[in-house]
Amino acid sequence: MICATFYESFSYNFNSSNGLGFMFLFFLKRAFDKNKSQKLCLTHETHYIINIMKKFTLISCILLGGCLSGVTAANKKQSIYKDAKAPIEDRINDLIGKMTLEEKILQMNQYTLGSNNNANNDGEEVKNLPSTVGSAIYFSEDAKLRNVAQKKAMEESRLGIPIIFGYDVIHGFRTVYPISLAQACSWNPGLVEEACTVAAQEAKMSGVDWTFSPMIDVARDGRWGRVAEGYGEDPYTNAVFCVASVKGYQGKDMSDSKRIAACLKHFIGYGASEAGRDYVYTEISNQTLWDTYIPPYEAGVKAGAATLMSSFNNISGTPGSANHYTLTEILKKRWAHDGFVVSDWGAIPQLIDQGSASSHKEAAKQAFSAGVEMDMMGHCYDKYMEELVKEGKISMAQIDDAVKRILRIKFRLGLFDNPYIKETTEKERFLLPQSLATAEQLAEETIVLLKNKGNILPLATANKPTIAVMGPMAKNRLDLLGSWFGHGQVENVSCISEALEAEFAGKANLIYSDGCDFDGEDTSKFSEALETAKKTDVILLCMGEKQNWTGENASRSIIELPAIQEQFIAEMKKVGKPIVLVLANGRPLGLSNVEPLCDAIVEMWQPGIPGGKPLAGVLSGRVNPSGKLSITFPRSTGQIPIYYNQRKSARPNSGKYQDIPSTPLYEFGYGLSYTTFNYGDIKLAKETIKRGEKLVVEIPVTNVGKRDGTEVIHWFITASFNTITRPVKELKYFEKQLIKAGDTCVFRFEIDPMRDLSFVNANGECFLENGEYYVKVKDKKIKFTLTD
Ligand code: NOJ
Repeated sequence: MICATFYESFSYNFNSSNGLGFMFLFFLKRAFDKNKSQKLCLTHETHYIINIMKKFTLISCILLGGCLSGVTAANKKQSIYKDAKAPIEDRINDLIGKMTLEEKILQMNQYTLGSNNNANNDGEEVKNLPSTVGSAIYFSEDAKLRNVAQKKAMEESRLGIPIIFGYDVIHGFRTVYPISLAQACSWNPGLVEEACTVAAQEAKMSGVDWTFSPMIDVARDGRWGRVAEGYGEDPYTNAVFCVASVKGYQGKDMSDSKRIAACLKHFIGYGASEAGRDYVYTEISNQTLWDTYIPPYEAGVKAGAATLMSSFNNISGTPGSANHYTLTEILKKRWAHDGFVVSDWGAIPQLIDQGSASSHKEAAKQAFSAGVEMDMMGHCYDKYMEELVKEGKISMAQIDDAVKRILRIKFRLGLFDNPYIKETTEKERFLLPQSLATAEQLAEETIVLLKNKGNILPLATANKPTIAVMGPMAKNRLDLLGSWFGHGQVENVSCISEALEAEFAGKANLIYSDGCDFDGEDTSKFSEALETAKKTDVILLCMGEKQNWTGENASRSIIELPAIQEQFIAEMKKVGKPIVLVLANGRPLGLSNVEPLCDAIVEMWQPGIPGGKPLAGVLSGRVNPSGKLSITFPRSTGQIPIYYNQRKSARPNSGKYQDIPSTPLYEFGYGLSYTTFNYGDIKLAKETIKRGEKLVVEIPVTNVGKRDGTEVIHWFITASFNTITRPVKELKYFEKQLIKAGDTCVFRFEIDPMRDLSFVNANGECFLENGEYYVKVKDKKIKFTLTD
């Protein structure tokens, strides 16, 4: 009876779950039945003993078989999440079913590992990283330490869940590229994708799985230090470069050994920081949220960005890291994003400072309920989440959803199957010739020629001129790296003087004088500089900003060059020689004081590792500049905010400043070349289109100069009237082409009404209205009509 019951129960369990157990029991039962049917001549007692033994043996065998089968079944069940061939969702479901609440909560925390070299991330360094922690910011630059920590996670934790290692790979890892604001001035998203591919490869080979990049905060206030980190003032430009960088980091398959996960940040509206001060309140109407700040994020999510970072800023009363509307309603519900959101560093406890939460526990509840799945160094989730669950304030279903999102990205990155990184030499992974070539090309394409009076540039070398090279940037390396230069090394940067020596060897005499510092009041070197300048044919002034004048927590109230630099330029003007001003900086500058003093102005931005070499190419004429501004340069700080796509004024011809013109000094999209491009008229395929149709527009551009040159065309759309008013013009497409001297290139744009003419309302709903529209390129414009 017992035997049958055991048999039945085991056979039921194992028949369904385990073939081995089933076979074992099948043969056992057959043996038992066969034995039963054999007629042996035995005494009653013997028969009785044999029977008892048979039953005992049967029970033992059944128990043993059961155990064996049970173990095998359990093993098999356990191994689904470890089975690289199983579908990711099955692996996640299997794993989540095995995790304790404590294990789940630790997945939602990010600590740090390695020496912290970022002053703004001045948190504790976790030496003993818990083996069950979800993530760590990896400050080290080779894979060794990561592998040790990962081994602990894989082998010492109960379930062997790998850690995801993140880092701020912002504009390169060791091969540092120009800052993102400059990258956008290249108008070459393909090249930016290539740069991000290199950055991903260097980062991944060094132990990083995940970058906190791209930053796609539309930024229109040059006082804000973080303007350097994004792609400028325009939503469309940010969207295009966002997609390029997501593709560059993640590739087609994030599990590739040279790819990393991207993180769109800072979700959302951080760029609207009041008066350019960092971390402060932002006043953003839902209309502006949708038409200005959201488009780059929507594009990035559609491009498959694995993660997002919630922002520090308070969005019109609700902080970005406790904002259910943006994090859940928009991101998770409308866009169906299935990756996860990490908070910014300490953004969860900062909800207390922002007056949103009264305690760390409340902060954890607010951020988590809003849709932040991972707590970056805030220590609110690890301390209070369990209590919140036990008190019923957060449900297990919510926890499971959050943890699944984190696991999903880990599975997609292939971390469960390949948790370790092959340890390589620096030579094998950093500064590879192709990586450096990409950096140099990108830096060349980002340089914007702002002024070139009398075509003083490129510098004529026929008579072997003497050039005075002066200013605090001339022999500087560090400040050419820009903010967030990751693991870039100063000694790898070629400084301006070195690059000029190489470029002009045998063609010009270069003489040096410091002149002035970046700031301060020391004019003691002015007289020596004056004497030097008198002996030369051209004065090259290398000025700008220190690398830590932009980036996080690096706002400035005035975006003019510091007084000492302006003073020095004025002093040099007294010499009466042509002045070429070279600027390396991380924000738009107010240049109206110095612009009249200079014959040429070259905006080289902060180029990263290539340093002065691309600039030297521009000065010598080896490189014909093609960069165009991704952000407006105001005349002075007082014009801020000034950006090209402002909404229309009630009185467009009045309301100007009394003391200065109301136009910017250099507008968005501005940039000169050494050649001249003539623009023909815009041609429309038809003047009226129906809503479902597309409209092809073309513009011929002729290079009428003597040099080949690359031109960037910006296609803007203006809507005459809409139910919700529209900006004066909106960029909808751009293209860059090399045009040989004497050649004409016809640029073409296919207008898709739903994509290019529609607008959103304050709830993100999209509308397309019939009526009059204009398409514009530079000063050319043409009208067309949209009808039913
Ligand atoms: C704070 C910054 O706001 C964010 O951009 C960065 O990714 C994190 N710190 C981590 O370093």
